[in-house]
This record gives sequence, structure tokens and C-alpha cells, in this order.
Amino acid sequence: MQSEVRVSSHEPIDNISKNIYGHFAEHLGRCIYGGLWVGDDDRVETEDGIRMDTVSLLRGLNMPVLRWPGGCFADDYHWEDGVGPREDRPRRRNLWWTQGRENVPEESNEFGTDEFLRLCQLLDTDPYIAVNVGSSTPQEALDWIEYCNYGGDTELADRRRENGQEEPYGVKYWGIGNENWGCGGRFAPDEYADEYRRFANYFNGFDKLMNEGSTEFIACGHLTDDWNKVFFDSLNGGMEFGPGSFLGMGSPFNLMDHFSVHRYYQAGGDTDFTDEQYYKIFARAQKVGGDIDRAAETISQYVPEDEIGIIVDEWGVWHPEARSDNGLEQENTVRDALTTAGVLDLIHARADVVSMANIAQLVNVLQCLVQTDEEAAWRTPTYRVFDLYENHVGQTALETSVDTEKRAIEGEDHDVPMVSASASEGDGELFVTASNRRHDEPETLTVDVGSSSYSVSSATVLFEDNDIREYSTKENAESFEASPLDVTDEGDGTVTFDAPPASVVGLTLTE
Ligand code: AHR
Repeated sequence: MQSEVRVSSHEPIDNISKNIYGHFAEHLGRCIYGGLWVGDDDRVETEDGIRMDTVSLLRGLNMPVLRWPGGCFADDYHWEDGVGPREDRPRRRNLWWTQGRENVPEESNEFGTDEFLRLCQLLDTDPYIAVNVGSSTPQEALDWIEYCNYGGDTELADRRRENGQEEPYGVKYWGIGNENWGCGGRFAPDEYADEYRRFANYFNGFDKLMNEGSTEFIACGHLTDDWNKVFFDSLNGGMEFGPGSFLGMGSPFNLMDHFSVHRYYQAGGDTDFTDEQYYKIFARAQKVGGDIDRAAETISQYVPEDEIGIIVDEWGVWHPEARSDNGLEQENTVRDALTTAGVLDLIHARADVVSMANIAQLVNVLQCLVQTDEEAAWRTPTYRVFDLYENHVGQTALETSVDTEKRAIEGEDHDVPMVSASASEGDGELFVTASNRRHDEPETLTVDVGSSSYSVSSATVLFEDNDIREYSTKENAESFEASPLDVTDEGDGTVTFDAPPASVVGLTLTE
């Protein structure tokens, strides 16, 4: 079959924020305990208790940002339990998840704020902390930001120094809760608006006077417009009496830098799915695009464009095999990786409104990038897609249209295009990613970049020799590595090639 990808280099969308390639790690299953943190366990090399085999694989992704400590866990987490000498830290409940080697709903607090921020230093990634709104107070959250970010002479800043960190950590991203319509407190939208305004008000005060205005705050949205609209309407509450006090506080919308939405999807099982379900998961993954569009539309009714970015801070496949009692672990297949390519393509197409995205989750849990056992760490097929797509980071996304067959899926709003693609440009380089979703035949693809000044400098393909149900194990992880692809550069701005069944192609063209 044949498809055509047309790239319009004269139609730039916006810069692709590096944060679109962000990640998420929760105190859940073997994500933190076992996957990232093993303490004094000498079976693997560690630095300050952090697993270096995992870190060294993750370094290959140049991770821009890491969200922590949840998820649902965030809204019952009390940060002071997790700082100071480890032997004095209390063991607490984990209200939401079993975790660690023992797989119990308990939190040892061995891995806390300083350990998380050490991990971020080792990965050279920006931390993003979600504070507890559901079961706590602005006071606790404010103390946390002061502990992390204040360089002056207060008891909390001194406590950080006593715990080994002289300079402020400079944590930039602060989430005001997580899914506060659900596990984060079951707030009605107007109630969460009141909470948001209160928490963000104090954060903002700290930020302006004691933190050089360098932090950004994230509100938790819902997938439905109705919820989001009530939230935004209520956030404005009290504004009829004027924009604040003599301090000139301005509109409560100034208290928000980003607005987040979450989307998980499944169809059939992780490895056990029918042909129809194979395609259905793409239709479901595509809903991320609609979620972003609807959130952008709602936001635009309240603030000028660009003032509040959209963050998709949890997204990915969540198969029925990933249950609470197995720490949300599932097999990570080529099918999953192909859905990732499609979601990244559609986020690029919305680069003008999306400020961050964090696939769930980083290690061992849900659609992870790295898996571990007691002695080794290895990459998943999804890791390979992130790796291939990295060339898009920081480039300008370009309007890209795909002329390809679409498959209608019963019960789904979206038809599934057999080819998904996106393109970006920067520094004399144009990068195109395209996936052939057809799993039973190759697709002859023509990529037209509309300018004969570009010629192909490299072409790689993922999953050429893998089956759609193949999942990563310690033994086979290297079989998902990218390999070179033969392409024909027609010399007039078009490139043709055969994309193997169920594969992802990365094409670099240089001026
Ligand atoms: O990622 C697993 C869970 O999914 C998170 O804790 C929660 O935010 C979401 O519902």
C-alpha cells in the first residue's frame, strides 16, 4: 500500500518544548523502590542509594523533567517524613499502592525529597513536584517549597543544609495536587478552584519575594469540558469585588502557568489482543489530541493564548494486566511503542499549546521506559521511540499532512490512519518521523518536504524484525534497537521508502 506525507516548511506551528519528552515516577510498585532506589543493596552499582544501571540507561534519553511523588500518592504524602537521617524516618501507609520488594501498602520514606532531587541531579533533569492538596494544607506545601528553594537564613533552609544540600535546589515546577476530582480529594470543580487559589496564592507570595519569581504552578484539570469550565469560572470567584488588595495581586489566572490533563488507554490485553483491538488502541490513544484541543478551547475563554500551557502529565497504555496487586506492571510491546509514536506526533501538531507531557511511568510501572530485576536494567520498545524522536526536541514543529488509508473502528470516534507522522525543522535540519501501523504489510511512503534544498542525511527504522506482540525482557531488549533504512532521495524534496509492517521511521534531511 502507498501513503504520502507532506511537510510544509513554510507553516511552522511552534517550538517543540523539550518538556514534551518528560517523565513521571510515583511511589508505586517497583518504580521508586527497586527500580530507581535500592539503598545499600550491593547487587547493583549505586550512588547515594540510587541504581546506576537504571540511571545510565535513562541518561541516554536526556530527560528534561521528572514529575514526583505521584500520582495519587502525592495527596497523602507528607514531605517531612522523608527528610533527615533515614533511620529516624517514620514508616507510613501508602494509601493507594502496594510497593517495593515486599509489595505492601507501606512507605518506608527512605526515598524522599533529597533523594529525589539527587536523582534529578544525576539525570540532569528538572524536578516537578506535586504537593498534597487533598489531605493537607498550604502551610505544608509552602514549607516544602521553602525547604527546597530558599537560599536565605530560615529554619527550613538550614534544615536543607544540614541534610547535605547547601545551595537551593531551584525546583521550578510545582503541581497543586493530582487528579483532585478523583483520588486527590474528590473535590467538586468549584471546591478545587478555592483550594487552587489558596495554595497558589501562598506559593506565589513566596515565589515573588523569596524565590526570584522562578517557579511555575500547575493546576489539575479533568477530561470533561464541563468540569474544567466550572473550575475556571470559580477560580475567578470574588473578582467582582476587584482584583485583590493594595498589593495589586491581579487576576487569579495569573496564579496558573500550566493546566494538566491525563489520558490512559487500552484495547484487549498487553500481549493478548485481536486484530480489531490491535487497531482500536490507536483510536483510543488519539483521544489525547481531542483532550488537548478541548482544554485549549476552555482556557482561551479566560486568558489570552500562551498564558497557560497545557500539560499532559500522565499518558500512556494501561493494560488490564496492570493491577494494583502487581504494582501496575504489564508487558511492554511493540504495539505500545507504536501508540507512543502516534501520540508524540499529535502533540507536535499542538506544540503551540502543549508545554509539557509526562508518560506514565518511568521504570517498571505501566508504559515504562526501563525495566529492572534485582541485577539488571534494560530498555523497553517505548524507550526506543523516545530515543528516535529526540531529534524533534527544541526544533520548530511543521504542519504535516498524511494521505493514507483510514480504518474505521466500531464504537470509536476516531478512524485510525495507517500512517502517522510529524516533522520539525531547526539549524538547517529537517526531521520527519513516520510510523506504519499496518502490521501485515509494508507501506510505500513518499515524504515530500517541499524544498529541493534538503537531502537525506540519515534514515533509521525501529521494529523491522519484531512482531507486534513482542515485549522486552532482559534477554531480548537489544533486539528492539534501531537499524538503518534504505531510502531513495529523489533530489526534488521527496524521499521514498518502504516502511516495514508495524515500524517507526526517523528521517533526517539536511540543507
Ligand atoms: O499512574 C497511576 C495512577 O493513575 C496515578 O497515581 C493517578 O494519578 C492516575 O489515576
